Amino acid sequence: MAASFTGVSEAVFAHLPPAARFSSEDGAFLTGHASALALLEDHLTAGFYDILFAHSETARILSGGERSEREMALRRWWRRTLEGPFDAHYWEWQAAVGLIHVRVGVTNPMMIGMWGWILNALQGALVGKLNLPPQDADRMMEAFHRLAATVQAVIAESYLQNYLAVLANSTGMSPELIHRLVAVELAGLDPSAQG
Ligand code: HEM
Repeated sequence: MAASFTGVSEAVFAHLPPAARFSSEDGAFLTGHASALALLEDHLTAGFYDILFAHSETARILSGGERSEREMALRRWWRRTLEGPFDAHYWEWQAAVGLIHVRVGVTNPMMIGMWGWILNALQGALVGKLNLPPQDADRMMEAFHRLAATVQAVIAESYLQNYLAVLANSTGMSPELIHRLVAVELAGLDPSAQG
């Protein structure tokens, strides 16, 4: 059985300090600029998939079907993000992406690395392509950084919880027992002895 998407997204929200977490003001600011941001869809999609297709580890994952079909995952995500609302459904969908990524072989380093690329691409495009006043561009980047932290936290946590759920189901151990085993095992390690 998969980890509960609602449970994962609620736990992540409880762990994220409010100042680091995407807020309703961020959501309102972002959706208020949706029509301008929608113009960046082709630019972001082209850059994102150019990078993934140029790297063997990620290209392998995208090898089935047409590139235009693969691009739909990011296009759909960008459109839904600009449209809002950032309600429970949105965060549960991000948790579901953690499961989809486990299934297709996308790792968290791949996902987090591409988030870094998206933030850099947005920073350049807000001023360079959309001609936003610097003050608005700064506020927008603040919102995107909090969105990045929140989405990455939900996707990465869902990835881990789904791994644990499968391990727990297939071994008959409860997730709590696995956590205890990890704690006992790691207590015996000396991190200063590494490197
Ligand atoms: C910024 C980082 C990423 C975000 C926000 C993201 C988001 C998503 C979303 C929302 C879906 C589900 C689409 C849907 O519901 O229709 C999805 C699926 C998928 N993602 Fe990601 N993803 C990211 C990084 C990556 C990376 C680095 C890869 C590497 C190849 C990847 C490959 C895939 C694949 C293969 C699917 C299955 C859907 C398909 O293409 O048929 N994603 N992703």
